[in-house]
Parts: sequence; C-alpha cells; structure tokens
Amino acid sequence: MRFQRTLLAALLAPSLSAAFYLPGVAPTSYDEGQSVPLYVNHLTPGIAQQDEQLHSVFSYDYYHPAFRFCPPADGPKDVRESLGSILFGDRIQTSPFELHMGKNETCKAICGQVSFDARSAKFVNRRIQQGYNINWLVDGLPGAQINMEAVTQDKFYSPGFALGSINEDGVPVLNNHFEILIEYHRVGYGSQEKYRVVGVLVQPDSRRNTQMLEDGTAQCESDGVGVTLDEEGETAVTWTYSVYWRESSTAWATRWDKYLHVYDPKIHWFSLINSAVFVVFLVGMVSMILVRALKKDIARYNRLDMIDLDDLNGTSAAVEDGIQEDSGWKLVHGDVFRCPKSPLLLSVLVGNGAQLFMMTGVTVVFALLGLLSPANRGFLATAILLIYTLFGFVGGYVSSRVYKSLGGESWKRNIIMTPVLVPGFIFGVFFLLNLFVWAKGSSGAVPFGTMLALVLIWFVISVPLSVAGSWLGFKQEALEGPTKTNQIPRQVPPMTGTLRTTPSILLTGILPFGAIFVELYFIMTSLWTNKIYYMFGFLFLCYGLMVITSAATTVLLVYFLLCAENYRWHWRAFAGAGMTGGYVFLNAILFWITRVSFGGLTGAVLYVGYSALIGFVVFILTGTLALPLLSLSLSLSVFPPISFVPSLCVYTD
Ligand SMILES: *[C@@H]1O[C@H](CO)[C@@H](O)[C@H](O)[C@H]1NC(C)=O
Repeated sequence: MRFQRTLLAALLAPSLSAAFYLPGVAPTSYDEGQSVPLYVNHLTPGIAQQDEQLHSVFSYDYYHPAFRFCPPADGPKDVRESLGSILFGDRIQTSPFELHMGKNETCKAICGQVSFDARSAKFVNRRIQQGYNINWLVDGLPGAQINMEAVTQDKFYSPGFALGSINEDGVPVLNNHFEILIEYHRVGYGSQEKYRVVGVLVQPDSRRNTQMLEDGTAQCESDGVGVTLDEEGETAVTWTYSVYWRESSTAWATRWDKYLHVYDPKIHWFSLINSAVFVVFLVGMVSMILVRALKKDIARYNRLDMIDLDDLNGTSAAVEDGIQEDSGWKLVHGDVFRCPKSPLLLSVLVGNGAQLFMMTGVTVVFALLGLLSPANRGFLATAILLIYTLFGFVGGYVSSRVYKSLGGESWKRNIIMTPVLVPGFIFGVFFLLNLFVWAKGSSGAVPFGTMLALVLIWFVISVPLSVAGSWLGFKQEALEGPTKTNQIPRQVPPMTGTLRTTPSILLTGILPFGAIFVELYFIMTSLWTNKIYYMFGFLFLCYGLMVITSAATTVLLVYFLLCAENYRWHWRAFAGAGMTGGYVFLNAILFWITRVSFGGLTGAVLYVGYSALIGFVVFILTGTLALPLLSLSLSLSVFPPISFVPSLCVYTD
C-alpha cells in the first residue's frame, strides 16, 4: 500500500490525478434526499465463527429462493458487470432497500412477513454454520463490518457481513435486521453542495419480534432473543432495516483506504527480507562459481596460447588431453545443445510460459500503478484476460523460434498447438469444474454466455495473434548454439544422489516457492473467502524474487548436471523450476487440511481442481522463466575464450 501510494504520488501530479479516473470510477455526487441505490451481490462463504475454518467454496445468488430475501416490487434486475467480474462470481442485482442521501430512517420493513419452511430453514441454517456473508454495494462500496486485528488492535472495514451467527446453545440464528450506517462527504458550497458516499457499514442483528404494522411502519425493537429457524415447521420472519447517515472527513479519493487493510505488515516484510537475503546469497554463489571459473580459465588460456583454439572442438583428442584431464563440461560440449526429447511439446510450453510471463509482469505493474483498484469491480480479472489474449503474439513468436532452434520440422503442428494445447486444456478443466458448480445450484457457475464469450475472444483475438507471432518467428533465423553438436550422442552416465531426476526436480522447485510462500497464503485466503487482495507492492517484490531465484537455482542445477556429464538439461531445467507450481499445489492441499473442512465431495473436487489448475499455470510460468537466463549463461560461458566452458567444473571438487 505504501509502495502503491508513493508510486502513484510520484507518477501523477496532484492536478493530474484529480482528472485521471478510469471509466466507472468517477465519483458520483448526490443531492440531499436523492435516492442512493443499494445493490445486492452473491452470498459468499467465509471463515466460520465456531472453528475458524473455511467450510465451502460455493457462492449463492442473493435471490436464491431458500434465503427468502425480498426482491424489489418489479422484480430484481441485473446490474451491468464486466466480464472479469462475472468470471469471479459477482452477481449484482437491484434491491428493495430505500436509501435517501442524508435522511436518517429508523426501522423500516422491507416487505411483509416471509415464511421459511423446513427445507429452506435447513438450507439457511447450514449456510449460517458455514459462515456465509451477505455482500451489498452502495455506490460501488461494499457493505462492511468493522473488524479489529488481534495483534495490532487496528480497526478496519471488512467487506461483507454475516448472514447469521451461532448462539450460546450452538443454534444458528438468522440476522433479519440491518443497521446501515453510511458515511458521506460534503463537497461544494451553498447551492452547489453535494454529497458523496465514502463508507458503508452494516451491523446485522437478529430480532425475533420485528413486524410490519398496519399503517406501513414497522416495529424493530429487540427483546434480546434472536430468530432461530425451525427445521421441522414454518418460521415467520420480517426483514427490517434502519439507515443512518454520518458526515465524514474522508475524501472520496481515499474512501477505499480503510477497506484495504494490510494484515500484520510485519509478516510480509519479514518474509520478504528473508527471501531477499536468500536470493542475494544464491545469486552470489552462482556468480562466484562462474567468475572463479572464468578467471582461472583465462589464466590457463594465457598459458596455453600456443595451442590452436580451433582444434578444441573435440576434433583433436591429443590437444584435448593436453589441456584438460578432467571430466565434466569439457566432455559434453559437443552435446550441450543437442535437441531434447519432444521439442514440439517443450517449445509449445515455453511459448505459453512466455505469454503468461508477459501477462503477469504487465498485470503486476498495472496493479502497482493503482490502475486495478478494487473500486473497479472485476477490472483485475478483465485486464488479466485481455492482456493474456493480446500476448498470444508473444506466445506464438517464442514457441516458433524455440522450436526452429531446437531443429523441429513440423512447423504446422507447432503453429496449431501453441494457441490450442495449453489454453484448451485450461479451458477444458475450467469448463468441467464449472459443471460441478452448476450442478450444485451455486451462483458461482459461470453463465453459458460468458463461456461463449471466452471462446470467442480466444478464437477471434488470441489464435490469429499467436499464428501471426509464429509466422514471424519461423521467418527468423534459428538460434545457433555456440558449440557444434557432435554426430554421435555421448553416453550419459547414471546420476547419483541429488542429481537423480526426482530429487533434483524437488530441490530446484523449493527455493523459488520459498520466495512466494507467505504471500501465497494471503492470496489463497482472499481467493477462497472472496476478500479483496491488493497487497500488490509485496506481490511485485515477491514475484521479482521468485523470478530471480528460479533462474539462479536452475543455472546451478544445470551446472551440476553438466559437471556430471549429463547434457540432457532442457526438460530437467523446465521441470525443476516448474516444480514451484507443484509446491503451490501441495501448499493448497496443506491449506485444505489445516484451514478448510468441506462436507461434500463437490466442494473438494472444486477446491482440488482449481488448485491443480493454478499449480499447472505456475508450473508453465516458472518452468519457462528459468530458460532465458539459462540459455544466456550457457551462451556467455562459451563466449570467447570459446572453451572457457570445459574447465568450469574443475573447481567444484
Ligand atoms: C443520523 O444518524 C447519525 C448516526 O446516528 C447521526 O450522527 C446524525 O446526526 C443523524 N442525522 C440526522 C439528520 O439526524
């Protein structure tokens, strides 16, 4: 947050920032007494009060019949939303609440009595036990509850408020009365005076004897007893609310600040500094190895300058023996750039990884600049989607260049598979998981129209861009390795210890994962409980650290591999760095075991499915990240003196 503000302040002069609003985030000013609409959003699962666990991943439409919330007289209407907003589950609709700017109103009934039958009573009680929250929006601001952080005693607004609570006897009670407190800010003078909404707090309560009186007024007094829904018979309930308007000194521009609370920033800083120290150490180690090898090598070449360097390419065994009696690099230099197995798949994955990398990079920078503020609902998701689509060009270009450089010949298959394989797989899994949500009757299911829009965007924008990128990539020269590849592949000796496939992959992935571990916890919590995530400053730094760690560890891995005369590094490096994604998935499972308890199978399938999907995306992303730096260091290390490479491993003993 601090980062974000400083950056924003630095980038936008004050005069400029006043004029700089994204569509949809310009302030709305109301006259006194003007009606302010209250929109309702879906009900979302939260951390349950009784055991601090997450019990569900489904969200429900506000007007799901079992909840018995009153719709407006002319029926609920959908409020226009962005694509990203719909994808992330928002279902915003109109409501019958009547709010008038600056007019306090105590005790109003929303509609007459509603009656819960046994079935809906059971349904609602279950949702109360699972800690479901009601989400309202007033002028784009979520209806919030005031929370206090245990450690720092900081007060902050937490979006959403409880559907109900559990009383001392362990029985769920339904909140049927809402105290709405709206903070407004006065702008302008005299007859120009207007009011803006700068804070929305909702204090829900359970009151047994609320009712609508004959003259249209209501009675809301509480006798201290809540509403419990009878699971065997009918329960009559009247929904009531009061509205209070309070003047606030908070300006419209800063109204989101109290919602965006950084939970215990010390934890973030601690983890960040931790990983930073580690990264410095790691990068130091890698460069030390390279520099020492380089120095010693140059010294050696100064001594050996009588030998014709051109002969070092393995053609003259005698010369080779003369300067180099060791094993390692020297022996595999004729195989280092040998084409790996399945070059097609590798190039397609790398192309898609490059696309993802560009997407995440640009998104995080956008977020840092404050362009993805939560004030613009769903903008983050929409932006991610669009940026990803547009970078299809990069994906195609990288994929085709890598494929050509690896000596691949079936270029048609490469062009087709690049935009189809990975996005198709992700979309397929997403579609299947969505069927589960849909079968469950949850509002979280992405509507068919949105799905169709996704497919359309993909075919109309992403695929042509990718094909264009591939075409351009294939027109370029293939990248050549600095050493010639021998005709006959060398035998790879059996690997021992940590250089065996599985241990080496597991070890490589754990370091980059360490850099994002803490931040991941916060992302996961906000993702599954529908809280706003906005700690983009931290995220940006963590992401940077992860990129560096991932590249550095992979360089080390390949270095050790080559020292052990194993030249098959391409896939190993990809899988090793990509293992970060594997750890992200494992971490999600761990989170599940400790913080989540689902009753049903569908919830579990959904949770595991989405976690696996996220893990897969991170796998491709981090796997790809390792390769550019790796290729660079491989090429640099064989840069003049051309055979600096051979002696690289001597110094590790
Ligand atoms: C409305 O209620 C708020 C909060 O109780 C109070 O501060 C404010 O003075 C009231 N406004 C009017 C006009 O009575």
